[in-house]
Amino acid sequence: MDDGCVISLDNVSIGYQKNKPLIEGLNLRVNSGEIIAIVGPSGIGKTTLLRTIAGLVPPLKGGLKVCSQTNPASPPRGELGYIPQRLGLVRHASVHHNVMLGALAGHCSPWLPFSFDARKSAHKAIQKMGLEEKRRSLVRRLSGGQQRRVATARTLAQKPSLILADEFLGELDEETMLIVMDAVISYVDEKNAALLVVEHDIQRARKMADRLLLMKNGKLVPYVESLEPVEEE
Ligand SMILES: Nc1ncnc2c1ncn2[C@@H]1O[C@H](COP(=O)(O)OP(=O)(O)OP(=O)(O)O)[C@@H](O)[C@H]1O
Ligand SMILES: [Mg+2]
Repeated sequence: MDDGCVISLDNVSIGYQKNKPLIEGLNLRVNSGEIIAIVGPSGIGKTTLLRTIAGLVPPLKGGLKVCSQTNPASPPRGELGYIPQRLGLVRHASVHHNVMLGALAGHCSPWLPFSFDARKSAHKAIQKMGLEEKRRSLVRRLSGGQQRRVATARTLAQKPSLILADEFLGELDEETMLIVMDAVISYVDEKNAALLVVEHDIQRARKMADRLLLMKNGKLVPYVESLEPVEEE
């Protein structure tokens, strides 16, 4: 996909059982530099969509292209960064070690553990997430919001061209939330990357995204502001 397209879904159905798709007829194109937010009720299939794009759940039907690869089961090394809703951190390892896992995934060097660039990326990402003082702390000793920031730092350190982020601003106070949001948006701008984010808070989604999509009733459709209810006289 040399035309700037990083995600292309063509009539895709997603879910876990062939006869019970969660969402059908998904058509979605995400280009470099774009930020797209998905909103929708709990349990509708938002995480499942991100997992399908990440190659962790096979699509039930349809064509799926991610980054420069046609086979999502093996996305190109480092190009796809995923901040999962359940984080997937190594809880008994330090913040630094967790973020280094992302950095190493994004740096192809025959001397991976000694890669200077990877260490530099990890350091910068930890700094951006305001976690310098916790660098040596074990992840299991951190608060929920701090752990969420470690997962975001891990992905930024990887320097992917596509970020899939699932509720990555959860459990953060307003001030920290804005710092984390700004850091990710700046990254997307600087690298001309793409961001597909699942966000339950409409205000936040609107603040971040170029386009808002709503997942509802088995479909993914453009989000339309609902009209204010008309007061009866
Ligand atoms: N591994 C799995 N195997 C089978 N069914 C699953 C699996 N994971 C999720 N589901 C089901 O798929 C549906 C969609 O789940 P998903 O996690 O995608 O929802 P969601 O929109 O992300 O919800 P939330 O906003 O609560 O995170 C749910 O009914 C859930 O029970
Ligand atoms: Mg979810």
